[in-house]
Amino acid sequence: WMFAPFLLFLAELSSGSQPTYQWKDVVTKEKLTCQQCPPGTFVAQHCTRDRQTLCEPCPELHYTQYWNYLEKCRYCNVICGEKQVEVQPCNSTHNRVCQCQEGYYSEMEFCIRHSECPPGSGVEKL
Ligand SMILES: *[C@@H]1O[C@H](CO)[C@@H](O)[C@H](O)[C@H]1NC(C)=O
Repeated sequence: WMFAPFLLFLAELSSGSQPTYQWKDVVTKEKLTCQQCPPGTFVAQHCTRDRQTLCEPCPELHYTQYWNYLEKCRYCNVICGEKQVEVQPCNSTHNRVCQCQEGYYSEMEFCIRHSECPPGSGVEKL
């Protein structure tokens, strides 16, 4: 399961296109240019003079959407309400996305029921 993302990661490494960040080595006080970590991973260890950044996959229920140098992945903090359905689950690169159930529309943070037309009437279109 780690195989495909790892190959992708290697391909990106060799293309040399990945973003970097400035990091000051805690021990030597030396300023270093470290490589950022790809989406779905975070910085387990910052780079040192001898070693590139160590990236690790986000744990369960956490994500990073972009190239980053976060020391922790973000928590999937979107919780679907009772009138909502989950349209996109939380995975290593995306937060959860919720939508109002059928028959409801969203107003501010709430899902409001559409009103029904009484029999014999309809929506007037201007
Ligand atoms: C994570 O979810 C997003 C949005 O639903 C999707 O585009 C992406 O392919 C998913 N990634 C993985 C690794 O499943």
